[in-house]
Amino acid sequence: MFSKYKKPSATAPAAAQPSKVTELAKVATPEAAAKVARKASPAAAAQVVPMDKERKRKDRIGDLKLELHRVLLDSLNLAALENASETELRQEIQAITSEFLEEKAIILNREDRQILNKELYDEVTGLGPLETLLQDDSVNDILVNGPQQIFVERAGKLQLTDITFKDERHLLRIIDKIVSAVGRRVDESNPYVDARLKDGSRFNAMVPPVAVDGSLVSIRKFKKDKLGIDDLVDFGAFTEEMAAYLQAAVATRLNVIVSGGTGSGKTTTLNALSSFIDNDERILTIEDTAELQLQQTHVGRMESRPPNVEGKGEVSPRDCLKNALRMRPDRIIVGETRGEEVIDMLQAMNTGHDGSMTTIHANSARDGVSRLENMIAMAGIEMPLKAVRSQISSAVNLIVQASRLQDGSRRMTSITEITGMEGDVISMQEILRYQRVGLTPDNKIIGHFTATGVRSHYAERFRMWGYDLPAAIYEPVAAQ
Ligand SMILES: Nc1ncnc2c1ncn2[C@@H]1O[C@H](COP(=O)(O)OP(=O)(O)OP(=O)(O)O)[C@@H](O)[C@H]1O
Ligand SMILES: [Mg+2]
Repeated sequence: MFSKYKKPSATAPAAAQPSKVTELAKVATPEAAAKVARKASPAAAAQVVPMDKERKRKDRIGDLKLELHRVLLDSLNLAALENASETELRQEIQAITSEFLEEKAIILNREDRQILNKELYDEVTGLGPLETLLQDDSVNDILVNGPQQIFVERAGKLQLTDITFKDERHLLRIIDKIVSAVGRRVDESNPYVDARLKDGSRFNAMVPPVAVDGSLVSIRKFKKDKLGIDDLVDFGAFTEEMAAYLQAAVATRLNVIVSGGTGSGKTTTLNALSSFIDNDERILTIEDTAELQLQQTHVGRMESRPPNVEGKGEVSPRDCLKNALRMRPDRIIVGETRGEEVIDMLQAMNTGHDGSMTTIHANSARDGVSRLENMIAMAGIEMPLKAVRSQISSAVNLIVQASRLQDGSRRMTSITEITGMEGDVISMQEILRYQRVGLTPDNKIIGHFTATGVRSHYAERFRMWGYDLPAAIYEPVAAQ
């Protein structure tokens, strides 16, 4: 019936032998299951009856799916499957499911049948239970804490989903499918791994025993349409005045660092800022996982690479950066500076690649500078602190702070200029910031953006380049 994708010498599928799972699956409805259990032992019935109906239905579909998945893998010709269209494959799966259910005399209602077919399709072609979440555009992050708990982040808020894996083995199989596709391996001796999914999403997994209660997976979904400056202004991440200031800063080639905590919107901000770069500039980007989507024509993208299983083949961000300097860039954008590449980044910023940008993990501009100092110290550079600071202060012009506030909103909470050195200390001035005033009863933050009243150190530079910002930008705004 579905010969096209069936293996030429298809033997009787594994499901032909009755198994425990199939026997279980034969019990058509939860009520029937309860009846069977009641007959078997009253104690068991007491356990079954109060069980959540929905949960049982899901378990049953889960069991069927597992069984059918095995049948599918046995009977489908995987090579032919690669060229099959989606419709063909869905039809094929539907046909196999029908035959299987008929053979086993299992009655499923239309809705359950549809769920089963969709889940099977996701298992065969994609990432099983994760597939629905990956396709859901409202989901930003997917966080798996063992097989039974999947959280997602929607609109800045973490929510527990009702999607689960069948068990740890199922979860491990999906993890394995992802990492083996990129030529990596994850197991007890190699318990964590970074990878990029086919759609560009960033993926990290850690497996037991390091992950104590089951594998941990974090996925940062790739947004096809990255939030642009206008979107961020619309979302209240910053104001139009701030956007005008940032445009002047980026266009006049200030060196910018975006600082922020995990998931605070650093990469998004960096990407949006890059839209202010002129189209005729040659930009090189260096990232661990390529997330940036630059709109310019002249862009060279690099992705660093961790060592392989034998500990070989590493290409560090620093290697990329050193090489980038030989590739005649006008600007260099480093996705995140977190290690020894800081030295080359600062050097690049100091030596003719002004207008370069990166992000760092820090909670304020001042904290960001300390992070840079620490990274330099960790890189084994023996330089007096004053010299380190002077290097930083002449390299970095601007620190933009991205924050994820407690109500889930993401905002640019500060724009701070580095103006030079005063004695041993780096001098900075905050130009614009987000002023918090309180909290609504439903825990939404009340606040507004305001200038601090300090005029930009670079105002003259902006003017010379044709970005004559109105003085009003620097005037503080009173709380409404
Ligand atoms: N202002 C915003 N409003 C709404 N969503 C946002 C905003 N900024 C970023 N996001 C979303 O938040 C998520 C995290 O953003 P992003 O990847 O930029 O953070 P990050 O600080 O770079 O994270 P990480 O530390 O993991 O690298 C993304 O899905 C992004 O689309
Ligand atoms: Mg990031």
